[in-house]
Amino acid sequence: MTYAADPVQERWNEYWTRYAAEYDEHQASRLALPAERETWSRVWAQVLPEGTCTILDAGTGSGNVALLLAGAGHEVTGIDLATGMLEQAHAKSADHPTPPTFLLGDAVDPPFAPGSFDAIVSRYLLWTLRDAPSALARWYELLRPGGVLVAVDAPWFEDGESMPRGTDRQIHFATAYDEAAFGRLPFGRANAQRIVADWESAGFVDVRADPLPEVLELDRAHGVAPGHSPQLQHRISGRRPERNER
Ligand SMILES: C[S@@+](CC[C@H](N)C(=O)[O-])C[C@H]1O[C@@H](n2cnc3c(N)ncnc32)[C@H](O)[C@@H]1O
Repeated sequence: MTYAADPVQERWNEYWTRYAAEYDEHQASRLALPAERETWSRVWAQVLPEGTCTILDAGTGSGNVALLLAGAGHEVTGIDLATGMLEQAHAKSADHPTPPTFLLGDAVDPPFAPGSFDAIVSRYLLWTLRDAPSALARWYELLRPGGVLVAVDAPWFEDGESMPRGTDRQIHFATAYDEAAFGRLPFGRANAQRIVADWESAGFVDVRADPLPEVLELDRAHGVAPGHSPQLQHRISGRRPERNER
């Protein structure tokens, strides 16, 4: 099913569009700090292939990961389904010397030819990714043999009862992401081991989950997004096997 035919995905897109500016204010202000930029640059660089890569940032949101990687010299395309998020991303790329390309696109079925990318990255997408098995199959196909898949995430929302509901944004969140919605999110509450197992089942090799204590420290020092509490995040990485490995 494509996102256009999926009313629940539309509900999520509306939520991200409505709070895009607020979301970006927090993310961008953190990434303006040298310690944040250095840490996040390392988090990606440690697992990306050597040299300049073609990278897809799936669920790019307001584009901060895409912009960071483009700043490191990579050729980056960011896709998202929330138009408000893409507006934020476009606005920030105006002064960038080598801006990413930002496009409206579904992370479950990104609109590119097979073998288009050396790497597919995502940050904080997995938990809100519907139909993860289809997405993993498409990402496998979109990577060149030997290309890498990297995602950073955490199980942010234990259960519906624990969600704060004080602000308009929190109320909107609890409505958009009610229990039925979480039922559509295979990684919504998954731990890193479960994600590793699913990536392996999808054919990826050398799959590993690295805890990111340095990011937890930054979260504790600089504060997490509204409605969140600091969690130990993991970087999951894996590789599409080379042709002669299969
Ligand atoms: C928590 S935000 C993360 C944004 C960004 N990656 C970051 O690190 O700041 C999650 C993003 O995933 C996007 N998203 C969720 N499902 C998607 C899908 N199927 N296709 C494209 N984007 C999606 C949302 O619109 C939202 O912008």
